[in-house]
Amino acid sequence: MINRNVFNPIAYFGNGAVKHIIDEVQTRKLSKAFVVTDSQIVRCGVSEKITRLLEKNNLAYTVFDGVEANPTIDNVQAGVSAFECSDADYLIAVGGGSSIDTAKAIGIIIANPGFTDVRSLEGAAATDNPAIPTIAVPTTAGTAAEVTINYVITDVENRRKFVCYDPHSVPVVSIIDAGMMSSMPPSLKAATGIDALTHAIEGYITLGAWTLTDMFHLQAIELIAAALRASVAGDAQASEDMALGQYIAGMGFSNVGLGLVHGMAHPLSAFYGTPHGMANAVLLPHIMEWNSAFTEGKYRSIAAAFDIPQAYTMPLSEARSEAVDAVRRLNQDIGIPSRLRDIGMKEEDAMALATAALADICTGGNPRPVTLTDILQLYRRLY
Ligand SMILES: NC(=O)c1ccc[n+]([C@@H]2O[C@H](COP(=O)([O-])OP(=O)(O)OC[C@H]3O[C@@H](n4cnc5c(N)ncnc54)[C@H](O)[C@@H]3O)[C@@H](O)[C@H]2O)c1
Ligand SMILES: [Fe+2]
Repeated sequence: MINRNVFNPIAYFGNGAVKHIIDEVQTRKLSKAFVVTDSQIVRCGVSEKITRLLEKNNLAYTVFDGVEANPTIDNVQAGVSAFECSDADYLIAVGGGSSIDTAKAIGIIIANPGFTDVRSLEGAAATDNPAIPTIAVPTTAGTAAEVTINYVITDVENRRKFVCYDPHSVPVVSIIDAGMMSSMPPSLKAATGIDALTHAIEGYITLGAWTLTDMFHLQAIELIAAALRASVAGDAQASEDMALGQYIAGMGFSNVGLGLVHGMAHPLSAFYGTPHGMANAVLLPHIMEWNSAFTEGKYRSIAAAFDIPQAYTMPLSEARSEAVDAVRRLNQDIGIPSRLRDIGMKEEDAMALATAALADICTGGNPRPVTLTDILQLYRRLY
C-alpha cells in the first residue's frame, strides 16, 4: 500500500502570526495582492487587519469581497475577471472555508486557463500548473481549507456542491492566528468547531485511514473535545487550541477523505444554503451511531480522546455508545439542534437529497457500505 501526503510548505501558528505575511511577500518578491474575502468579513473589520498591515509596509493590494457562504461558480468567475483587471500577482485569502475555497479556485484557473468553466475542476482535475501563490488566513476554526488539497464549489443551476481535489491548490503559506478568528459569534464558533470535529472523526474512520492520518485525527479529536465548549464561551486559550485542532484535522482528512456525514451535509447546503458546519453538526452523532459496528476498535480511542473513564477496558459496545454520547452531549452544550427540520430540510426533498448524497465523492469513504435506501431512510428518520 502506498500513501501520499500533501501539506502546506509553510504554516505559522499563534497569536500575532499574521505579521509574517510581510516577510513571506517580500522574500518572494511579490508585488500586488488580490485579497479574496466576503463582505461580512470586511464589515467586521477582520480583513482590515491584513490590509492595514500591507499598507504599513507599502505593499499594494486590491480587495475582492464577492464571496458568498457555500461559494458558487459565479463567485469564482467574478473573482477571476476581477483578478485579470487587477495587476495582482498573488492571492491572500482572508475568511472562512468559503473565501479560501474561492481563492483556491481563482488561483487554479488563473494558472490553468483551460478551466474557466469551473465545473471541469470537479474531482481530480488534470491541471498542469500550481495555482498562483496563495497565502491563506482562516478566520473560522473549522474547515482547514488552508491546508487541504480540496475546495468545494456550489453549482446553483444543478443544486449541488462539488468537491475538487488538486495538490496544485494548496496555499504556499498559511497563517493560523486565533486573533483573526476572535470576532466569530458563539454560534459560528460552535458550527465551524463541529465541522472540524467531523473532519477528525470521519477522517479517523474513513476507508483510506492509516497510521499517519490516525495520529493527526486522534490528536485533533482530543484538542477539540477539550476546547470547543470553552472556545464557544469566549476562552482565548481554548480558541487557540481550536485553531490548531482544526488545522491538524486538515492534515489528516485532506489526504484520506471523509464519509457519509459530509456526503449528506453537502446536499443540505446546496438545497437550502444551510451553513456547512451546522449541517455536519446535526448529522454527526446520528451517522456515528449508524457506522458504529463498522469501526473496529476506533470508537474506544474516540471515547478516550473525550476523556471517558475506562474507555480502554469497558466492553467495546459500551465504548462505542460512550463515544457517540460524548459527541451528542457536546452538541447539546453548544446549542446545536438535533433534527434536520430545525436547519431547514424539507421532508418532500428526501429522495432528491439522498440521490445527491449517494453521488457525493465523500460518501465513498464511509466505513459502512451505503445504499440509496439507507440514505433515504436516514434523511427521513433524522428529519
Ligand atoms: N476546502 C476544504 O477542505 C473544506 C473543508 C470543509 C468545508 N469546506 C467548505 O467551506 C465552506 C464553509 O466555510 P466556513 O464554515 O469556514 O464558513 P464561511 O466561510 O462560509 O463563513 C460563514 C459566515 O461567517 C462569517 N465569518 C467568517 N469568519 C468570521 C469572523 N472571524 N468573524 C465574524 N464573521 C465571520 C462569514 O462572513 C460568513 O458570513 C463551505 O463551502 C464548505 O463546503 C471546505
Ligand atoms: Fe467540512
